[in-house]
Amino acid sequence: MLQGLEQLSSDLILGLSDACRADPNPNKVNLTVGIYMNEAGVCPVFEAVQLAQRAIVDEEVTKAYLSAAGDAQFNTGIQRLTLGADSIALADGRVSSIQTPGGCGGLRIGAEIIQAASPGARVWISDPTWPVHIPLLGSVGLQLQSYRYYDPASHGVNFDGMVEDLKNARAGDVVLLHGCCHNPCGADLSLAQWAIVADMLEQQGLTPFVDIAYQGLGDGLEEDAAGLRLLISRLPEVIVAASCSKNIGLYRERTGATIFVCRDEANASAILTQAQAAARRVYSMPPAHGALVAGRVLTDDNLGVIWRTELSAMCQRINGLRTNLRRALETTCGQDFAFIEREKGMFSFLGLSAAQAVRLRKEFGVYMLDSSRINVAGINARNIDYVAQSVSEVL
Ligand code: LMR
Repeated sequence: MLQGLEQLSSDLILGLSDACRADPNPNKVNLTVGIYMNEAGVCPVFEAVQLAQRAIVDEEVTKAYLSAAGDAQFNTGIQRLTLGADSIALADGRVSSIQTPGGCGGLRIGAEIIQAASPGARVWISDPTWPVHIPLLGSVGLQLQSYRYYDPASHGVNFDGMVEDLKNARAGDVVLLHGCCHNPCGADLSLAQWAIVADMLEQQGLTPFVDIAYQGLGDGLEEDAAGLRLLISRLPEVIVAASCSKNIGLYRERTGATIFVCRDEANASAILTQAQAAARRVYSMPPAHGALVAGRVLTDDNLGVIWRTELSAMCQRINGLRTNLRRALETTCGQDFAFIEREKGMFSFLGLSAAQAVRLRKEFGVYMLDSSRINVAGINARNIDYVAQSVSEVL
């Protein structure tokens, strides 16, 4: 039976990160996978996380299963973080959520619920999007349609193209939106554009599914959720996939959530039972550790202050790296790279061809995706000139 299965090519993102790890080049630079790295080139554990972990280890008395919905404290914390502590939908009791294995689990449970509610529903995804959106949503049986999003010429959002394409969406369709820090292009909608999208969703009877995996790494925790919160203030139903991988640094602990903003309390309660049943058939219940940590960080005032300060420093450092990288590239390449400073979050397309990206890996040990997506947070004072020089060589 198994011998009929063919060898697959490696993952577009994780495979290149593995290749970089295996590369003996002493000058290699890993700009592939979206993880925050500090000046020492290390993906650090937040101090707030270390403090929460120590307390959890000291106090832990059981390893019994969590419920399929996960940890209650975590669910409270993640709902407040994404929707805002003063959310009217939360006060109305028409929100439910389920803790999931990472943001991927959050997307998958959201997809399972869409498929249960409307089998074979059409989901509109941005072109380009994070490549894993396609199998995560498509493999439950949803039909994927794409809308134009990025304009390589201006290195910004092709908003006219997006609007034109979304006009073809039919009532009952779902639109997948990146809450902030678009992955892979870093080009975000302005608040005015979010308002136009909200009008379209409302008028055409479309449901938004918002993937917010980088809250706090663009302009700040509240600012980065403004588009999502605007949709929630305008529409009766919104599905959210949230992740604590980047903003609490819990990557390998697989900590995320699917949040359902529903029409009323009874529906929120019904959807929670559906989400729990979906979790049970896919993975039973989520892992505990990351959510226990995040639950404390998000609901304890003292830990919250420490965490917000650390996250804000990361955000500022990424924005500083954007300025430095722009300068370094403009100096070595003699071209305009101002777009790097306008974008948000970890990612940017450098605008190179796949052949140039391959040359950068092979000849210089500078690893980026074939699309020329780089993880800006992988740049530091030691590698910035080398990266800029290498890019100028292939240009
Ligand atoms: C990325 O896009 O690099 C991250 O979201 C990590 C991943 O799982 O792909």
